[in-house]
Amino acid sequence: MKFKSIRGTKDVLPGEVEDWQYVEETVRRVMRVFNYREIRTPVFEQTGLFARSIGELTDIVSKEMYTFKDRSDESLTLRPEGTASALRAYIQHSIGEQSPLTKLYYIGPMFRQERPQAGRLRQFHQFGAEALGSPSPQLDAEMMLVALQVYRELGIREFTLKINSVGCERCRPPYKLKLIEALQSVRARLSPESQARVDQNPLRVLDSKDENDQSLTRDVPLMKDHLCPECSQHFSEVQTLLQKTSTSFVIDGRLVRGLDYYTKTAFEITSTALGSQDALAGGGRYDLLVEELGGKQTPGVGFAAGMERLLMVLAKTGSQKPQDLRPALFIVTIDEDARRWAFAEAQNLRFKGIRVEVDYLARSVKAQMREANRQQARFTIVVGETELQSRSARLKNMETGSDSAVNLDDLETSLRS
Ligand code: HAM
Repeated sequence: MKFKSIRGTKDVLPGEVEDWQYVEETVRRVMRVFNYREIRTPVFEQTGLFARSIGELTDIVSKEMYTFKDRSDESLTLRPEGTASALRAYIQHSIGEQSPLTKLYYIGPMFRQERPQAGRLRQFHQFGAEALGSPSPQLDAEMMLVALQVYRELGIREFTLKINSVGCERCRPPYKLKLIEALQSVRARLSPESQARVDQNPLRVLDSKDENDQSLTRDVPLMKDHLCPECSQHFSEVQTLLQKTSTSFVIDGRLVRGLDYYTKTAFEITSTALGSQDALAGGGRYDLLVEELGGKQTPGVGFAAGMERLLMVLAKTGSQKPQDLRPALFIVTIDEDARRWAFAEAQNLRFKGIRVEVDYLARSVKAQMREANRQQARFTIVVGETELQSRSARLKNMETGSDSAVNLDDLETSLRS
């Protein structure tokens, strides 16, 4: 029996993992610059948390969650996204009482049982941020800027920022009725999926990928044209702030997100370097969600971005910065005494921060030299009985092939120079 990783999950192997680390470091640096603090929450939660926040009728909750009963018969779910968990923790630990505004970020795995394809996994990774406590459109714009800054720092230029407003509890219900009415005349000709959505979640009909649906709904009313004065003012201020920061964007009146908690601003960042799964990031405002989850009335806004998709774009267009993984020194050893000395000396140099490798397989000198070459070690020394007795060896520069005498009791100085 050979075991295999689960469909829709991926191993990140050495060689690839360095790109992940590079991206994670960039995310952390940008989050620090924008003054977000990291939060780490468990990967599983009570099922009700997600059903409550994301919405019972969404694809995520109705068909994609990894839900199971634990041994005490409690229904638990692997988190399909990070917002619900961050807010649960925010409420549980009364974080809002320490300061009226809280800015959080996270990086971690999320789980959705979707049909796997390029850029769509069942265990995928997101980085994201949530700002809780302010209704200011400045934070809506800041979320977009944080995400875009990560892409810019990674050298990714091919992206489009799409923004929309999905209104609030005052202007959305009357708009929904208008939309349902407009959809009646074309209803019978819509795709079965969209037909099912007309009554339950009519806004989702607007972002159907089906071309026929799109042309049938070309002239239906859009939320952005039916906003109440407050939402309208908020939406226009977000646009002004984006212009003031020279951020290009397009208004996409059909942008509706796959999660139900949004109010006012919704946005997505897409890239043409991706295939059909073209969303790099998505987010928006959710002014009712904290209260919905049992907290005090607290406005909030956030976004999350897919790491795998970012890495796909990075591989195509970005600037990869491979880390230096080369050992500074490979100690080649001839006999058991030398191996013991090399083991201790390697620890000594490693304590001082120098990357050193030794042979653990009692290989021949030739095989060890081959290994040193494979690892692209900068320097090698060969140590046996003679070298241990004289306390000196030849330090070979593997790039130039030249060598020089070194004192075995002061390798650090020789390596540093
Ligand atoms: P979302 O749009 O569901 O939003 O996901 C955000 C991003 O995660 C997507 O744009 C995509 O890059 C990535 N993603 C989603 N599903 C998959 C998948 N199956 N495989 C690979 N990547 C995927 C949220 O999750 C919200 N919590 C965002 C948010 C935070 N809104 C407010 N705060």
